[in-house]
Formats: sequence, C-alpha cells, structure tokens
Amino acid sequence: MKNVLVTGGAGFIGSNFIHYLLRVEPDVRIVNLDALTYAGNLANLSGLPDESRHTFVHGNICDRALVDGLFQRYQVDTVVHFAAESHVDRSIRDPGTFVQTNVVGTYTLLEAARQAWAGDSAISMSEARFHHVSTDEVFGTLGPADPPFNEATPYAPSSVYSATKASSDHLVRAYHRTYGLPVTITNCSNNYGPYQFPEKLIPLMILKGVMGQDLPVYGDGKQVRDWLYVEDHVEAIHQVLKRGDIGQTYCVGGDNQPPNIEIVETICDILDELAPGTPPASHRSLIKHVVDRPGHDRRYDINIQKIKTELGWQPRRTLRDGLLATVTWYLDHPEWVSAISQRSDFKTWMEHNYSQRGGGK
Ligand code: NAD
Ligand code: DAU
Repeated sequence: MKNVLVTGGAGFIGSNFIHYLLRVEPDVRIVNLDALTYAGNLANLSGLPDESRHTFVHGNICDRALVDGLFQRYQVDTVVHFAAESHVDRSIRDPGTFVQTNVVGTYTLLEAARQAWAGDSAISMSEARFHHVSTDEVFGTLGPADPPFNEATPYAPSSVYSATKASSDHLVRAYHRTYGLPVTITNCSNNYGPYQFPEKLIPLMILKGVMGQDLPVYGDGKQVRDWLYVEDHVEAIHQVLKRGDIGQTYCVGGDNQPPNIEIVETICDILDELAPGTPPASHRSLIKHVVDRPGHDRRYDINIQKIKTELGWQPRRTLRDGLLATVTWYLDHPEWVSAISQRSDFKTWMEHNYSQRGGGK
C-alpha cells in the first residue's frame, strides 16, 4: 500500500479514515476523490496529520475519464471505496441518485481498476487491492429470535439505499471471481462519532437537543441497531487492508444492540450533564414519537467473530464512552455544526423529512 485512492474522503467515515491512515502509515500517499455532495465537507479534512501526503480531487466516481486519469497519474495500487449516497430516508425521496452513485459509480471504479492493474501495467493485480466499504443493511431485517448476521447470511435488502449497496457488493465479488480483481469487502453496522452529517440519528439528536427542539423518534423507537464508534471502524478497514484475505468479506460491528429509544435517552442524559444551561432541565422531555420510516428494518445484529479471530480486531470503545466522546465533540465544534445547520439545503431537507410526520407510535 503506497498510493491509495480514497473515494468519498470528505464524508463522515472517509474523512476519519484519512486522518487515521496518515497518522499510522507514514509512507502512504492519498488521493481523495469526492464530488462534495451535500454530505461532503472539506472542513472534515482540516488539521490532517500530514497535508503533503493528501491530494484532494473534486470529481465524480461515475466520471470514467477522470478516474482513469487518477489511476495513471498517481500510480494507484490501493482503492478504499467509501463514496456513496448513504442516508436511507433520502433514498425514499430520490432513488435515482442512489442507483447512479452506488451502483454505476462502483462499476466505474471496478472497470478502471481492472484496466489499470491488467497485463503488464506498472501496478500488477498481485500488488493491488480494491477495498469496498459496505453495510450490514444488505442483509435486511431480523426477527426477534433470529441469529445475528454473519458473512454467509443471504442478502435481503429493504430500502433503495441497501439494495444499491447490495448491488455494489455483488459487482465487487463478481469482479474478483470473473477477472481476478484483488478485492476485500467489509459489511459494517451503524457508525457514529466526529464529522457525521447531522441528518443521521445520533448527531441529529445532539444538534436538536442542544437547541431545545423536539427529538423525532420514528415509530415506537424499539428498532434495534448495532453501533460502532467510527475510529474502531477505520481501524478495522486498516487491518483488512494489511492482513485480510483477497476475495473475503468481513462483518464489523460494536457488539451492542440497544433499541433506538435507549440511544436517544442516553444522549439526553449526557446533554443534561454536559450542557445543563441549555433548555429544558431534562432533555428527555423533548422526545417525540413521530410517524415511522416506510420499510423500516426492525432489528440488526452482527456477528464479528471472523474479524476477531482471523485479524485480531475488536472494538475498543464501549457505547457509553463513544457516545460521551461524540456529544463532547459536537459541543466543542459549534462552528462546524452551525455551518451545516444554517445551510438552506439542510433546512429544506429537515422540512421535507419531518414536517409531515406529526406524532405517532
Ligand atoms: P457520507 O454520506 O457521510 O459521505 C459520503 C461521501 O461520498 C461524501 O463526501 C460525498 O460527497 C461523497 N460522494 C457521494 N456521491 C459521490 C460521487 N458520485 N462521487 C464522488 N463522491 C461522492 O457517508 P458515510 O456515512 O461516511 O459512509 C461512507 C461509506 O460507508 C458508504 O459507502 C456507506 O454505505 C458505508 N457505511 C456507512 C455506515 C454508517 O453508519 N454511516 C455504516 C456502514 C457502512
Ligand atoms: O447499518 C448501517 C447503516 O446505518 C449505514 O449503512 C447507513 O449509511 C447509515 O445511515 C445507517 O442507517 P440507519 O438507517 O440505521 O441510520 P439512521 O441514523 O438514519 O437511523 C438509525 C435509526 O434511528 C433507524 O432505526 C431510524 C431511526 N431514526 C432515524 C432518524 C434520522 C429515528 O428514529 N429518527 C430520526 O430522525
């Protein structure tokens, strides 16, 4: 791993990965290709450990000529592919963008990699790696007594988001089986931590809680997710890049499965402690059950035995520690939060997603 093409590196997990990789790999150079959609934010890349080893390219992963040019110019030997449309609620409103970026974009990168690393080119398949960052949502929903997802669980996606991620996983696997492309895949559970765009549950609840606004919990709030602190996720990806077996998939998660309502209540309690001056006295009083997400998956749980035993990775942060660190980060970065919350496209999204929901369990 010398010259790494990171896609989506101005987003939440991608930017955390870049901070981490520059810190732990002193000789690696990174080219970061990002279209700067609403979710991309150059502020996520300020204060990098070594700016001189990071090159930002503003562009789209669906632009084949641009991607080919980057492989040639930077002698890319490793791709770490984060770029995606990532929010389930947005996929309900605008499915086409998800098909384009998540499916066509992944296909474009795979084709470019196949050509760049073929035959007698400067970088051969044996020195290269294409790592695809995917999600546990591809496995669909679990019943109350079902065992956790593992690497052999059949795919059964429920949303356009998860269906397009599933398609991209299938393409990545097919490029390995058919063309010998040296791929690895990680399917990870819900991430949280610094730089997460505040449309997702945890940062949204922090932002609204600080402002004393209603905290919109979908349905009865008893849906279950597994939660992983983002730095643990990027560490897992690094381990897979270094020691993972070509063609393999690794499930990654935090070994915890609280219902959503418990997450929201914990955030309220932390805010009561860390931001007691903000209204009201108890943030729990802001919780409001609203109409549920269509097609909402009820329960996820993920078995991380394979990555634990084969690569020695395991999550470092407990959920309580991670939530404390996350709330603290958002409270310490009011300028980052307000730059987003004042944007008109953000306000439009909030209005669109929440104004019609009313109440309801
Ligand atoms: P994000 O929405 O915060 O960031 C996505 C980034 O991709 C943004 O910087 C955006 O500008 C960029 N992007 C979008 N379309 C692009 C295009 N066509 N060309 C180039 N760049 C484009 O997403 P995230 O939460 O950081 O997720 C990153 C990856 O991890 C995604 O593939 C997602 O499916 C996967 N994942 C996310 C989670 C999670 O909980 N957030 C969990 C498991 C897996
Ligand atoms: O499981 C991994 C996935 O986790 C990733 O692949 C996705 O990119 C990521 O967005 C996340 O998907 P979720 O749909 O689980 O995340 P979200 O933060 O949108 O919602 C988490 C849970 O909280 C879910 O059950 C819906 C609920 N929710 C969400 C929002 C935004 C609410 O109750 N209220 C809300 O306002």
